[in-house]
Formats: sequence, C-alpha cells, structure tokens
Amino acid sequence: MSVEGKKRVVTTHRLFEMKQRGEKITMLTAYDYTMAKILDAAGIDIILVGDSAANVMAGYETTLPITLDKMIYHAQSVVRAVKNPMVVVDMPFGTYQGNSKEAVMSAIRMMKESEADAVKLEGGAEVIESVRRILSAGIPVMGHLGLTPQSILKFGTYSVRAKEEAEAEKLIADAHLLEEAGCFAIVLEKIPANLAARVSAELKIPIIGIGAGREVDGQVLVTHDMLGLNQDFSPRFLRRYHNLYEEMHNAFQHYVKDVKARDFPDEKEQY
Ligand code: KIV
Repeated sequence: MSVEGKKRVVTTHRLFEMKQRGEKITMLTAYDYTMAKILDAAGIDIILVGDSAANVMAGYETTLPITLDKMIYHAQSVVRAVKNPMVVVDMPFGTYQGNSKEAVMSAIRMMKESEADAVKLEGGAEVIESVRRILSAGIPVMGHLGLTPQSILKFGTYSVRAKEEAEAEKLIADAHLLEEAGCFAIVLEKIPANLAARVSAELKIPIIGIGAGREVDGQVLVTHDMLGLNQDFSPRFLRRYHNLYEEMHNAFQHYVKDVKARDFPDEKEQY
C-alpha cells in the first residue's frame, strides 16, 4: 500500500506481463525515505530494501548481523516515500532458515509493520518449506539464487557461482522449485550469463540479474554502488553512473572552507 493507503502501481501481475511482452524490469536498492522518493520519481519498477543495508548503512562486513527490527525500520522509511514501485524487503539472516513456522511469523511481522509488497529469501531447496509457508499466508516471495551473501561464510568467497556443472544443475533445479512453489520472481546473482539466460528462457516468472548478463528479464544494482558512493567495491558487473563520492567530498570540503573563512553564512543567509 502507498502513503495514501492506495495500492502501488507495480504488482506481481504487472511484472509477469512485463516479462511476457519483453519489457525489461528495473530494480535498485533503498533503505531510507529520501532515496526511495528519488527512485520513485525516476520511474524505477521495484525498490529492494536489501539486507545490503548491513554493509551500506551500518558498515558491517557481511549482511549477517542485520536484524528483523532494523529491516522493518528501513522498509517503513521506504514505504512512506513511494507511490509507484513495488517494495520488496529482504528477510534477514536467521529469520527463515531455522524452521518454516518462524519464517512465516517473521514475514507476517515484516508485512504488517512495514506495509511492503513482498519479501525476498535467499536459497532454493534448503529453504523451500519456508518459501511455501510464507506463500500460503498470501505473502508474495521473490527468490534469490547464485551468490547468496547470507551464506558467504560457507562459500568463503564472493567469486562467480555455478561455473561448474553440478552447481549449475542445482541452480536450475532450485529455480524451477521456486517457480513451482509460487515465487513471483527470482534474483540471480553473479553467475555465468549463459546459465542466467537459460533460467530466464525456461521459467515463466521474471528473472532479475545482478552480474548475470543481459539475457534476463531485469537488472538490479545496489544504489550506493551505482552512484559511486562506495569507492572500495568495483566488481566487473558494476556500472557506475556517477562519482557521487567525489561530488560529496568536494561539497563537504567546500563547506568546511567557507565556515572556517567566515564566508558562510553571509548577510543574505541570516535573519
Ligand atoms: O541486499 C541486496 O542489496 C541484494 C541485492 C544485491 C540483490 O540482495
């Protein structure tokens, strides 16, 4: 639901239709009101309240520490801002892997308290009971396969996933499993482009890629990365649309200089 209690324009059905007519789906992350408002005005289809908030907003090395309460807070801030895009929220690590009852209770809490449109869960067969139970409560679920950052300690590396045949076959089977369970879309992260293309061609639901090539139904990036706010992260898949770090750094330096030099505020900037 939107700020005025109206249904948001982009729905699971609309995304399905977009795939059918070959219209690419756009998705970016936001964790706060101001960013979400700008993304909405720019015409984005889906805003992901990613658990990348743990890295980007809180400075943790992995996404593991972020809690359900914190994700609800970020989701509420985003929902307050948007009218058009669908708002999808990551279920944080530890809220759905244990058992499916806990998973559905966590997802219900997320939906009730944030008024988001859908949740995203990482994993395939390992979490399918949780996915099914959340879906049976009427909550739309987006899947996430390939590089799944909540399992980073098990992988031990952020390198490209599913390059070997066995892992690729498991990924394809997991994607079908998620579709059959009723997921409305799947994110594929950092896998070979030809594998992502195959999944997109085999499935009816939209496949949103990040580092998964162009032959998928949509693209997602972390907004702070594509704006060039994060200088330390430059994987091959990341296209930087701006060097906001430099722009902000220069603006802050300018402010420091102006205040020190007693140039700010001037006569027109006072009462
Ligand atoms: O948390 C996140 O931002 C994500 C995207 C990288 C897909 O899951």
